[in-house]
Amino acid sequence: MSAELNAGEEEIIPESNRRGFLQWTLGGLLFGGFVVAGNVVLRYLMPPPPRLEKAHKVSIPVSQIPKGSSLMLKHRGAPVLAIHTEEGISAFSAVCTHLGCLVKWLPAENIFYCPCHAGKFDVTGKVLAGPPPEPLHPAKFEIVGDNIIFL
Ligand code: FES
Repeated sequence: MSAELNAGEEEIIPESNRRGFLQWTLGGLLFGGFVVAGNVVLRYLMPPPPRLEKAHKVSIPVSQIPKGSSLMLKHRGAPVLAIHTEEGISAFSAVCTHLGCLVKWLPAENIFYCPCHAGKFDVTGKVLAGPPPEPLHPAKFEIVGDNIIFL
């Protein structure tokens, strides 16, 4: 093939190169079409992914939180603190609303305590003392039979 063309000259591409180019292009388009069609068929045949709500449910036996105790667990990727008091079972996000430290349950004082800046919350999550600007965020759960299910 010539490297330089003079003005007004057209490059002549041999017929075999054109045919090869067309064959490769057509082959690529057909292959792409098969890949897309196969993907659509596979998606249609495969079962749907589990619903997120179900995937996020955490179930623990009530017996894991005897009266007077607490349990730290992870729900939806965040720490949750469940407590069992005389009033029953309740659960809150264990993340302090001040600067995000983890609170702990002090059963003797019946309070949630944040060791970072001495934040204190009552059994309902309400701020009792310290800098936290708002109450602890309650965790949603329900008791079904002998299990506590975090929703
Ligand atoms: S982070 Fe909890 S009181 Fe500051």
